[in-house]
Amino acid sequence: MQLHALRLLILALMAAPGAAPPEKACVVSESAIASELGAGMFDCGGNALDAAVATALLLAVTHPTAGNVGGGGFMVVCLPDGSATTFDFRETAPLASSPGMFLDGNGNYDADRHHSSILSVGVPGSVAGLHLAHSRLGKLPWRDLVAPAVEVASKGFRVTKGLAASLKEVLPQMRKYPASMAQFARSGEPLREGDLLVQADLARTLERIRDEGAKGFYQGETAELIVKEMERQGGIIRHEDLKRYQAVERRPVQGTYRGFEVISMGPPSSGGIALIEMLNLLESHDVGSLGVRSVAESHILAECMRRAFADRARLLGDPDRVDVPIAKLISREHAANLQKTISLKKASKSSPESFEWPREGSETTHLSVVDRGGMAVALTTTLEMSYGSRIVVPGAGFLLNNEMGDFNPREGLTTEGGLIGTRPNRVEPGKRMLSSMTPTLVTRNGKPVLVVGSPGGRTIINTVLEVIVGKIDHRLSIQAAIDAPRFHHQWLPDRILAEPNCFSSEVQGALESIGHKIETAKELQGSVMAIEIRADGSTEAGVDRRRPDGGAASR
Ligand code: DON
Repeated sequence: MQLHALRLLILALMAAPGAAPPEKACVVSESAIASELGAGMFDCGGNALDAAVATALLLAVTHPTAGNVGGGGFMVVCLPDGSATTFDFRETAPLASSPGMFLDGNGNYDADRHHSSILSVGVPGSVAGLHLAHSRLGKLPWRDLVAPAVEVASKGFRVTKGLAASLKEVLPQMRKYPASMAQFARSGEPLREGDLLVQADLARTLERIRDEGAKGFYQGETAELIVKEMERQGGIIRHEDLKRYQAVERRPVQGTYRGFEVISMGPPSSGGIALIEMLNLLESHDVGSLGVRSVAESHILAECMRRAFADRARLLGDPDRVDVPIAKLISREHAANLQKTISLKKASKSSPESFEWPREGSETTHLSVVDRGGMAVALTTTLEMSYGSRIVVPGAGFLLNNEMGDFNPREGLTTEGGLIGTRPNRVEPGKRMLSSMTPTLVTRNGKPVLVVGSPGGRTIINTVLEVIVGKIDHRLSIQAAIDAPRFHHQWLPDRILAEPNCFSSEVQGALESIGHKIETAKELQGSVMAIEIRADGSTEAGVDRRRPDGGAASR
């Protein structure tokens, strides 16, 4: 207890005022090319927002697994005066959608229709969101932010190792889409590392976006090409959907953790609420005195995850359609009530009740940016699965998302395969589907100290939690916090999904003996791109080594 008090005192002292602004401006993303060119905005006098927008657009060219103009995402921004805001550019359900749209003629759930068909495409939000954020907070002219993406799309770039590997994996699912094959294959074979990838149609789309702003995507030729493909394939997005799409500036969700402020994305993302709920629970445990991935640390983390994910499934959805009890969920009282249900000696049991989880893809991408003026941006964007719906819009050169798969397919429907039937996240025309993306800023007296986020579907929330705990409780360097092995618990199914070698055999045995089921994940968990700003203003970028193409660039 005394040790705990001492630790808190040290943390409080660390939180003393006077944190210097970052010495260097920095961009870190899953594409080293995008980071470098995005950081070029600083050379022209741009701020963190300019660099983040330019990098996000570049990712649509160099990291097509998840970077996009045909998807959506969220951005959390901290301004030099310490205030914070967020931009929600989540996709929406088309106006012709309905709660039963993923059932076949016999009323049976059709997973392909939900995740892999033209009906899985939501109305894209990225261009509107990036444009809105720029119009509020950018410094450079819009066209300057789009220009590097146009250039790389039209002149081409050399396919990187990670891109080559992902193309090889996805190509079988692209074969039925000629425009997708034309873009990413040569003579029916995936492009290989070192090949030149030129995307002329995408370059022209980006030029329209450069010249006309969001209208260059939601109206005119780009819109025509989207609607034409929709009609050709029996899809339901029409001009009216595109014209009506609105990105929204929203208040962030905020909490505190051991003297730091935590600023994250609220609904329609579940990320911020679940993260703050878990941190509130953890704060009364002396996590720092427990070893990283020790029995005690892993047990308490898993119990916090279990509870936050139960609340997520029951209560979260589009805040414009569902009354989400945000204040209650992130309150200390709620944490205190949940705390009473946690035993330090035994795993709880997740009761299946009436819901399970929908299938989910594993591609999304996160980028973090800081500038020397003290602005910080955390931006997570996605097409949902790797390469989204796999459908490249003919003539427009960009991939469409399959984000409709994040909606619950039918109220009350629960299957062993993992479907969820709760009401807040059922399909409704114009509604935003629930997300797990968790772009997050940690600040101290209003000054950014950590910018963080990750891909990984529902694991995103726990990945971000584990990095924050690694940094604040275990006092690891940002790179060590990213390198540390990860695990995930999501209430149901009732098991810990762990990276290979996450736990020693002794720790695994001890966790199992207190009632945890442990399954080894087939894939590594997430890909964190983070920046730490130390009290003296020095910055350190953390690039997840789980994937090969990432990189940081600073000025
Ligand atoms: O919005 C979401 O939560 C999911 N569509 C994100 C998918 C994802 O992160 C897959 N990532 N690696």
